[in-house]
Amino acid sequence: MNNTIGVIGLGVMGSNIALNMANHGEKVSAYNYTRELTDQLVQKLDGQSIHPFYDIQEFVRSLKTPRKIFLMVTSGSPIDSVIQTLLPYLEEGDVIMDGGNSHYEDTERRYHDLKARGIGYLGIGISGGEVGALTGPSIMPGGDRDVYDKVAPILTKIAAQVNGTPCCVYIGPKGSGHFVKMVHNGIEYADMQLITEAYTFLRDTLLLPVDEIADVFETWNQGELKSYLIEITTEILRKKDELTGLPLIDVILDKVGQKGTGKWTSIQAIDNGIAASIITESLFARYVSSLKEERVVAEEMLVGPTNKHHNLNKDEWIEYVRQALYMGKICAYAQGFNQYRATSELYNWKLPLEDIALIFRGGCIIQAEFLNVISQAYKENANLANLLVAPFFAEKVKKYQQGLRNIVSEGIQSGISFPCLSASLTYYDSYRTGRSHANLLQAQRDYFGAHTYERTDREGMFHTEWQ
Ligand code: 6PG
Repeated sequence: MNNTIGVIGLGVMGSNIALNMANHGEKVSAYNYTRELTDQLVQKLDGQSIHPFYDIQEFVRSLKTPRKIFLMVTSGSPIDSVIQTLLPYLEEGDVIMDGGNSHYEDTERRYHDLKARGIGYLGIGISGGEVGALTGPSIMPGGDRDVYDKVAPILTKIAAQVNGTPCCVYIGPKGSGHFVKMVHNGIEYADMQLITEAYTFLRDTLLLPVDEIADVFETWNQGELKSYLIEITTEILRKKDELTGLPLIDVILDKVGQKGTGKWTSIQAIDNGIAASIITESLFARYVSSLKEERVVAEEMLVGPTNKHHNLNKDEWIEYVRQALYMGKICAYAQGFNQYRATSELYNWKLPLEDIALIFRGGCIIQAEFLNVISQAYKENANLANLLVAPFFAEKVKKYQQGLRNIVSEGIQSGISFPCLSASLTYYDSYRTGRSHANLLQAQRDYFGAHTYERTDREGMFHTEWQ
C-alpha cells in the first residue's frame, strides 16, 4: 500500500492529527486499539487519504519503509505497551514518534531502548488542543537529528505557520522535545492564573460587570498583551448560559483540575535548583481551588479586611491591571525560559531558545505577541541571564513595575489572594536586589549546623563558634 505515515490512537487529538496530515497530502494509515474510534474517524472522512486498519500487523505492513509511526496514545504505560506490540513488525531505520504529553524521562528511557534495536524514537511536544491538532499545532520534536530529518517534511507541513515560518523546529536530543512541552505547560498554568487574577481584580475590586471585563480583555488583545489566552478569555466572558441566561462563567464551579505537566515542571525545577515560583504558585492555586467545601466553611469563620473597597479611578486602575498582567507574564516566561536554559546546560542539550520562542508564536496555547520580542532578546544574546535584563524588557518593567506593585498591594489590602501576581513581584524584587539579607540565613545555618559561610571581604569558607 505504501502509505507515508501511520497514526496510532484515534481519540480527538489523534484523529485530528491524522486528518491534518491527510489534508496536507500524506497517505495515512490509522489504527486504534478499540475498533469504535477507528470507525468514528472513517465516518468523518471527506475524501482524505486515511486508511483504517483493525490489525496492527496489517497497519505496519501498509507503511512505506522506513516506516513512520505517530503515537497519539495516553501517556504512561499505554505508550510502552503499544511499542511492545509494534516491535515484532518493525525494521531497523523505522521511526516511532510520541506526540502525547509524556514525561521527558520516560521518553529518554524509550529512546535508549529503541535506539539499541535500531529504531528511531522522537518525543514530540504538541500544543494547540484539538483545534490546533487539526489546523496546525506548535510542534517540539526531540531525539536524534538524523531521525528528525526523516520526518521533518511532514511535521513542518502540518505545523502552524506564522508569516510563512512553520512552528516546528528541531529541539534537541533525547527527551528534550517533551521537556520543552512540559515547561510550556508550566508557563501555560502561570499565564492562565495571572489572567484569572487580573479578572479577579477587575471583578471584585473595581466591581466591573462581566460584559465590561470582556470589553477590557478585547481591548488588551489589540495591544502588546495580544495572545490566544486573552482572546479565549474574552470569548469565555461573553458566553451566556443556555439554562439560566447568566454569564456562563458565573455558573461554572470554582474548582480546577490538572493532568500533571505543571506539577512535573515544578518538581523538575525544585530538583534542579531553578526558581520557578510563579509556575509552582499557579499549581498550588489549583490545589487550593479544589478544596471547595473547606473554603466554604472557612469563609464563615475567618475574617478578612473590613474596608474592602476603596474609591479607585476605574480607567487608571484598569491600566495598572494591564501593566501588572504584562509584568507577571514577563516574570513567568523569564522563569520558564531560565528553566530551559539551566536544564539545557545540565544535560548539554543546547536548546535553541530563540527558536523555541518563535515556534510558540503560533499554534500553541501560550502563543502571544510578545514571543517575538523574547525571541529577539535571545537572538541578541544567546547567553541572556534573564529575560528581565534584556534591554527591551528592562525598559518595559521600568514603566510597569509600579502598576504591579499597586495591584498587589491593593489586592492584599482588600483580602484577595494573588498567588501569581505577588509571586511575580517577589521574584522581580528579589532578582533586582544586589545585596540581600540572605546572609542572616547562612549565619543561622552556621550557628546550629556548622555549615560555614563565605565572607564579603576575603576568599574561603569560614565557621564561627557562635556561643
Ligand atoms: C496544549 C495543552 C494541552 C493540555 C494540557 C493541559 O499545549 O495543547 O497544554 O497539552 O491542555 O493537558 O493540562 P491540564 O489538564 O494539566 O491543565
